[in-house]
Amino acid sequence: MARETWATRVGFILAAAGSAVGLGNIWRFPWVTAENGGSAFLAVYLGIVLVVGVPGLLAEFVIGRRGKQSPVGALRDLSGSRTWGLWGVFYVITAIALISFYSVVGGWILRYFGESALGLVGAQPAYFAAPGQYFGGVAAGLDALAFHLLFLALTALVVFGGVRRGIELGTKVMMPAVLVLLIGLAVWAGARSGAAEAYAFYLRFDVATVRANFFDVLGPAAGQALFTLSLGAGTMITYASYIDEDRSLPFDATVIAILNTLVGVLAGLVVFPLLFSLGVDPAQTAPGPGALFVGLAGAFAQLPAGALVATAFFGVVVLAALSSSISMLEIPVSFLVDEYGLGRRRAVALVTLAVVVTGGVCAINPTVGGTAVFGFVAGPLVDTLLTAGLAAVLLFVGWVMGHDAISELRAGGGDLSAAIATPWLLAVGVVLPVFLVFTLLTTFGLSGS
Ligand code: PHE
Ligand code: NA
Repeated sequence: MARETWATRVGFILAAAGSAVGLGNIWRFPWVTAENGGSAFLAVYLGIVLVVGVPGLLAEFVIGRRGKQSPVGALRDLSGSRTWGLWGVFYVITAIALISFYSVVGGWILRYFGESALGLVGAQPAYFAAPGQYFGGVAAGLDALAFHLLFLALTALVVFGGVRRGIELGTKVMMPAVLVLLIGLAVWAGARSGAAEAYAFYLRFDVATVRANFFDVLGPAAGQALFTLSLGAGTMITYASYIDEDRSLPFDATVIAILNTLVGVLAGLVVFPLLFSLGVDPAQTAPGPGALFVGLAGAFAQLPAGALVATAFFGVVVLAALSSSISMLEIPVSFLVDEYGLGRRRAVALVTLAVVVTGGVCAINPTVGGTAVFGFVAGPLVDTLLTAGLAAVLLFVGWVMGHDAISELRAGGGDLSAAIATPWLLAVGVVLPVFLVFTLLTTFGLSGS
């Protein structure tokens, strides 16, 4: 059977943007921005996205489009080395680790979405209690397990449908919905009292903060940029492997990076006016689940038409999370399909079953040797895997593919691709690895938790 491909170029762009747009944009980006100098930080962040993020995306795209296989087969056949193939399995493991915690969070969000839709916002104050303690009843135990399974089932359903009729069709609906809803919410939030103050807090051009802590700001900016663009997981390799027509990769990567940034910025334009309108000081709410589930969910309970707004908002988060989780599930699925000739459906069933277990453990969140499993997976484990994964991609493209990478980047790309190809390879092979090590040294935090 012929390998699946995207039906359209837009389909690929939206699927990749769907992978990129996720929890990272909504629960972390606004806070990182506000804390590190507002729009001055945004400028630094945009620079990093263009100088580090886009070249990183291109590195994964080049491997994927040239390899036309899962990361395992692509790395093996492009290098002619079984060792690199073995390294490809690393991305399968990373994907399983990612989706294990991501689908648990997805489950929490589904729960908030469902309860909001039923008009139950605020009816369960216990959910919103005890900030910092992972919001009471929703986050742990059997409830979390059940909703994790539900979110995983939704993810599997999309991937089950295949590249075109599942992932492409799904993200073609999800991404525009996310954008439209977010814009609507931002307009609504902008009409709250306190919006002006919120904008000042979020987007003030605070050069002093950036200048005073420039190196401290670079770390979070880079970490945020890499996680949020889904780099280092093999996702972008996998998605690019389904491209069958050579079009400009630099163009696609730039559009994806812009869409991803736009969603992050919009999320802040929703979140901060809401918090300010209720007199909640966002600086006091830590980024991450606490802010999203405790601060915001509490805010919705007090707003006019709160249930409706909450439904729209958590709907956005569900769609953003889902379009990311399908991209995680697709990595092991493509591995089983390409390497073992499994049918897609059987592969999806197998991988899903594995994540029922691994995600289930994250949902129940036992403490092993003094460390809570969920926090370990969502934090240090995923951070390490993604960093190592991206480092390997960069070295592979820069030092193993070399000229092949250049010709792949140029394929279908016109003058611009030709002009940037060599500097790009230099960046990928030398500058970015150095930068990655530097980032690791300054902060150790890629994920949003
Ligand atoms: N980019 C996603 C987010 O911002 C997370 C992600 C990481 C998705 C790695 C796929 C692979 O939430
Ligand atoms: Na993202």
